[in-house]
Amino acid sequence: MKAVEITKGVYWVGAIDWSVRNFHGYTTNRGATYNAYLIIDEKITLIDTVKAPFAHELLERVRSVVDPEKIDYVVSNHVEMDHSGALPEIMQYCKNATVVTSSPAGMKGLMAHYGEHKYKAVSANETLNLGSRNLVFVPTPMVHWPDNMVTYCPEEKILFSNDAFGQHYASSGRFDDEEDLNIILEEARKYYANIVMPYSRQASGAIDIAAGLDISIIASSHGVIWRSHVKEIMDAYKEWTKCEAKEKAIVVFDSMWHSTETIAQTITEALKEKGVQVKFFDLKQNHMSDILTEVLDTKYIIVGSPTLNNNMMPTVAGFLCYLKGLIPKGRKGFAFGSYGWGGQSIGQVEEILKAAGCEICLPMIRLQYIPTKEELDKVREDILAM
Ligand code: FEO
Repeated sequence: MKAVEITKGVYWVGAIDWSVRNFHGYTTNRGATYNAYLIIDEKITLIDTVKAPFAHELLERVRSVVDPEKIDYVVSNHVEMDHSGALPEIMQYCKNATVVTSSPAGMKGLMAHYGEHKYKAVSANETLNLGSRNLVFVPTPMVHWPDNMVTYCPEEKILFSNDAFGQHYASSGRFDDEEDLNIILEEARKYYANIVMPYSRQASGAIDIAAGLDISIIASSHGVIWRSHVKEIMDAYKEWTKCEAKEKAIVVFDSMWHSTETIAQTITEALKEKGVQVKFFDLKQNHMSDILTEVLDTKYIIVGSPTLNNNMMPTVAGFLCYLKGLIPKGRKGFAFGSYGWGGQSIGQVEEILKAAGCEICLPMIRLQYIPTKEELDKVREDILAM
């Protein structure tokens, strides 16, 4: 396994996780990478590490350029273990290295995870001279944890952005111009919606910081390196950080005997008739992390569940729990479902939508047993009048 040169003396030395399909609840259908970077200068520097099981891959790529013992600094932009998990093993080989991290959150996080090492805590905009290059450390708290920072190298015009601008995407090409741009942007959008969306205000601040820098390359910690489409990903982030609610809807449901599904179909058709762009998600067939990607710019979140043992279906409960943690402001929605006797599920769904900050724009639709034509006609009329 070899390092990949990005610019003269700067290398990608990360790991490719071709097989991962679940990243703490997020489906990674195209795998993932954990990117780390090596800068050869008077002071040799490693930026970030990788997930613990991939330490050997990182070391092999580093060794294709330099003996790890010669590394002077290991910069930790982010404590989360997909970037720091290999740190204890790496430090056994980087015997002379100092770990550079943000103050105070990075220090606190690394100490809690890995205990004592030789640390250097850096403050906002502090510069570290490597010889012919400098590294400037810029805090980006909550993109994605409190400790996050990005590292900027002005001489190379490279922004080592960690989670920001990343995508879960395993590929043989390391650069944005070696892979299909539409697929990369699709994965970057999914990544944003599932990882960064709750912190859009902070992400917007990070974009402002990046916009003020002269950047030729964005070397994020996941997916491809941006060198030919820096403007496209920056523009996409400017759009995504707005979380703008467009005239779009998602209808999300589970069903036991197709009655709730029939209501979902009626709602979907009525929304189409109303001119709303709508997507239909049966939770038996769709993963919640794919559905959440749509919430990024969707105004109406419409959720249905039949009643199962006095409760909503567990699939719907899981979706709503995930939604509640990620949902942006300014969304509307309502609950619907079929029931046999108790019918508690529909009210439960509505309560969680409200608790998530969703404005209820239509009284809940509760229909007993199999919906009649008259009942479905009334659903259509109510949607058209909404
Ligand atoms: Fe890629 Fe927040 O870790």
